[in-house]
Amino acid sequence: MAWGVRRVILGLLCASLTACETSLPEPDSEGARLYRQRCSGCHRLYHPGLLTPEMWQFMLARMDTEFVRLGRPSLSETERRTLFDYLSAHAQRPAG
Ligand code: HEC
Repeated sequence: MAWGVRRVILGLLCASLTACETSLPEPDSEGARLYRQRCSGCHRLYHPGLLTPEMWQFMLARMDTEFVRLGRPSLSETERRTLFDYLSAHAQRPAG
């Protein structure tokens, strides 16, 4: 999969949305809170609408390997489900 290309695309999208990280949907929900808490430590937060639910699922699994690599606690089953529910509820809808 062309992750290099995708990263460039995400970078461009974020550069054009002035507040990529501050304009989270439902900012006071459990999911947004957990997202800020667990996902902002290493890079800025990506807006849920940038990826489809399938891509979020893939990224959550992928980030788990980063957590392990950098010695952080992995996501628990509950945390992963909360994050996925939140991200997919606000995710990009696949075209078609
Ligand atoms: C331990 C550090 C760390 C934490 C915490 C972390 N990430 Fe990441 N993340 C990375 C690194 C390193 C990259 C860039 C390398 C890569 O794409 O694999 C990245 C890249 C990303 C990307 C962009 C991928 C791309 O190709 O442009 C997304 C989306 C992402 N992370 C989502 C998340 C989510 C969701 C969480 C919370 C579950 C999270 N990250 C928490 C380290 C982290």
